Parts: sequence; structure tokens; C-alpha cells
Amino acid sequence: AGSGKFFVGGNWKCNGTNESITKLVSDLNSSTLESDVDVVVAPPFVYLDQVKASLTDRIEVSAQNSWIGKGGAFTGEISVEQLKDIGCKWVILGHSERRHIIGEDDQFIGKKAAYALNEGLGVIACIGELLEEREAGKTFDVCFQQLKAFADVVPSWDNIVIAYEPVWAIGTGKVATPQQAQEVHEAVRDWLKKNVSEEVASKTRIIYGGSVNGGNCADLAKEEDIDGFLVGGASLKGPEFATIINSVT
Ligand code: G3P
Repeated sequence: AGSGKFFVGGNWKCNGTNESITKLVSDLNSSTLESDVDVVVAPPFVYLDQVKASLTDRIEVSAQNSWIGKGGAFTGEISVEQLKDIGCKWVILGHSERRHIIGEDDQFIGKKAAYALNEGLGVIACIGELLEEREAGKTFDVCFQQLKAFADVVPSWDNIVIAYEPVWAIGTGKVATPQQAQEVHEAVRDWLKKNVSEEVASKTRIIYGGSVNGGNCADLAKEEDIDGFLVGGASLKGPEFATIINSVT
């Protein structure tokens, strides 16, 4: 870990029931967390309000998506204003599942990010390459292109956390090695330095996501440019998520 306060997000994705989420919230409420870590969880929309209301204030809540502009006649969408209305502070944008399964492109994601940031929501901006892109030696190109799509439109970097999530490591149990992750994080920081500013490069948190668990987090957290994690599967287990949060070095 290097820049800024360690940041750990739990992306619950499309998982959970009333029962399992009540249990998870209660486990999180009773866990002891290192104070020097920003902690955020992203429940599915239908549970967001109840999680916000029942979860300790120590942990912020995030949405997993938001609409590109003001609400209105957009069936199935959730607006940034509605998220703010229930006390939600963050939104995850550019996640690979939305890019590759739902088909969101850089331009659409950029619109969402610009709107959310302008309205005062923090953005967890996800980037990451597919396995075939890594194998073709295109990891940096893909990550830089996705990064540029954010950089081209965002009003400021004050409220952005970058999540590097190599797609081949997501939900596969095949975590990137600390060296593989560090190499990309360092390159991303360098890209920010050259293309945004030295200040933004040094203060922006770059977190890693993809099969992070209680057993591999400590080694990853030691790397200089890994400033936290975005956790999927392991964030559904309260005690293990607490272990990941407490891996801050
Ligand atoms: O956003 C977090 C995520 O994509 C990683 O998922 O299950 O591999 O930790 P998982």
C-alpha cells in the first residue's frame, strides 16, 4: 500500500436474500475493523436502503450502477439523485460484468461517471483486460484506453478510486500475483502522472479486484501501488471481509 488511505470495497453483485443480507450486516456490525481504512459495501439495489439503515456508520454504501443523467422516463434505471437521497456515497462504474455481459462501452460509462461526480457521488472506476488481451500483450493498452475514457470526461479526480480488475481473475479463484497486480498499478499511476497530473497520480487510490480472499490479501497489500481491494465473493462472508479490510499495512 502506498497512496492515501487504504480503501476496501465489497461488491455483493446480484447476490443475497433478506435473510443472508441481514446476517451479513450483523456480522459486519460486530466485526473489529482497522480505523485507517475506508470501507464501502455495494448491495443489490433492492437492499440498498435497508443496508444503509441497518449498517454501522463506519461502513459506507455504494451502488453497483447509476443512470447517465437526471431520473425520469427510464424504466429499470436508478438515478444519482435517488442514490444520494438514501445516503449512498459511492457508485461502481465500468465493472467488467457491465462492460462484457451487459455491453456498456467506454462512452456510456464515461457519461455515468461524469454525471455522478458532478452530483457529488464518489466513483469506483473499474478497468481491466480480458485473458486474450493479456495473452496478446495488450494489458496496458486496454487499461490505458479505459482510463482515458474516464479521464476525458471527469470534472475532477478528488472523488475517484480506480479499481484494476483483470477479467481473468474475477470469480475464477485465479488471483493475479502481487507482481502482476503491482506492475499494472504502477503503470496506471504512471499514466495518470503523464496524462493528468503528478498530484492526481500520487493521491488517487488504485485498488485491486479479482479473487481477493482472506488468504491472499496480505501479500497483495504489501505492494507499493496497491491501495486497497474491490472484493466480490469473499465480501459476502463478514469475517473474511473483515480480514481483508484489516490486511492494511
Ligand atoms: O468487483 C469485484 C469483483 O469483480 C471481484 O470478484 O468474486 O473475484 O472477488 P471476485
